[in-house]
Amino acid sequence: MVKINIAKMNYKITVLPGDGIGVDVTREAVACMKTIGKKFGHDFAFEEHLMGGCALDKVGVPLPDETLKAALDSDAVLLGAVGGPQYDNNPPKLKPETGLLALRAGLGVFANLRPAFLHETLIDASPLKADIVRGTDLLIVRELMGGAYFGQPRELTDERGLNTMAYTVPEVERVARVAFEAARLRRKKLHSIDKANVLESSQLWRKTVVRLAAEYPDVELHHGYVDACAMQLVMRPTDYDVIVTENLFGDILSDEASVLTGSIGLLPSASIGGKVGLYEPIHGSAPDIAGKGIANPIGTIASAAMLLRYSCKLETEARLLEDAITATLKAGYGTPDLKGQPNRVTTTEMGDLIRKYVESN
Ligand code: NAD
Ligand code: IPM
Ligand code: MN
Repeated sequence: MVKINIAKMNYKITVLPGDGIGVDVTREAVACMKTIGKKFGHDFAFEEHLMGGCALDKVGVPLPDETLKAALDSDAVLLGAVGGPQYDNNPPKLKPETGLLALRAGLGVFANLRPAFLHETLIDASPLKADIVRGTDLLIVRELMGGAYFGQPRELTDERGLNTMAYTVPEVERVARVAFEAARLRRKKLHSIDKANVLESSQLWRKTVVRLAAEYPDVELHHGYVDACAMQLVMRPTDYDVIVTENLFGDILSDEASVLTGSIGLLPSASIGGKVGLYEPIHGSAPDIAGKGIANPIGTIASAAMLLRYSCKLETEARLLEDAITATLKAGYGTPDLKGQPNRVTTTEMGDLIRKYVESN
């Protein structure tokens, strides 16, 4: 019998625009995926659901059951951002951010890949001196389902707030493997970042990474403390290739790394390791610019490219979308956060320019 392999061409994508600029940037990324679909003959079926503050407003919970169910039943999830000042004093269960953590845990995505790459053309958008940032190209692998974000016990009373930072060996091993494998495909250098001089969870983290390193003799492994790493990142960013670190440290270091590239609005992420991948820019709902039509959509469009790569296995399509971003930046276009770009555009105009490149290349 002849076995015929028919490449899958239909993909079900759950779209969670969320709050604030999440809505604007997700719209652009979805439109880019539609353009890619049309060009290459793929059928992306997008299904939008409530998540975050908008879900709290409409149905009273940040992650409705039907949203998680739809997400689990799809090929990938594309998320904008959640949160807003009106929810900041909500009890923990009724915070938009709690919904996001529940989504990550519900999907089982324990490894969050956050690439920070400086486009040569944006060298003046970075607040750092050109000779320091030139050549920055790093990947933060952030643990996403453990640490202080999820550790028990946790509680909030009138007198006390409590969180627990805990890691088990399997939790460290699985994310460290993702990082070692990623390093193998890059420049084969891995920095494991912890606070092992103080924290027991970090001591276990380091011991586990050291043990695993024996399986990856081709990867050069370094260890560093998170405080020193925060400093080195802005002093010698090109020293880094892949960084693997726990949840909270990864959250902080990735915002810092985004500044090297010119704007937090540029950085995408892919959360993998579970049944369904989750793709979101690293930034938040940006209440200060929400509703103004000026948010940078590139982080979300680049997240869509990661979705094409990791969840749909469409490497050519992912590359084309990334090339479109690079070319549009090179042509001098930029939303107002990209200082030094001569051609200032809105969120939608930026999306349109990227789509035009996709159509004609
Ligand atoms: P933020 O990332 O929303 O904004 C920080 C700064 O960066 C702001 O000045 C903002 O205008 C700017 N910025 C962010 N994204 C941008 C973009 N795409 N284009 C141009 N400028 C951009 O962080 P914040 O202000 O600390 O948080 C706001 C809310 O977002 C909070 O409720 C927070 O909990 C939430 N948040 C959500 C996510 C998420 O959904 N993944 C991530 C981070 C923060
Ligand atoms: C991020 C955000 C989230 C996090 C919040 C909104 C829960 O800051 O995705 O970086 O801390 O993980
Ligand atoms: Mn963050």
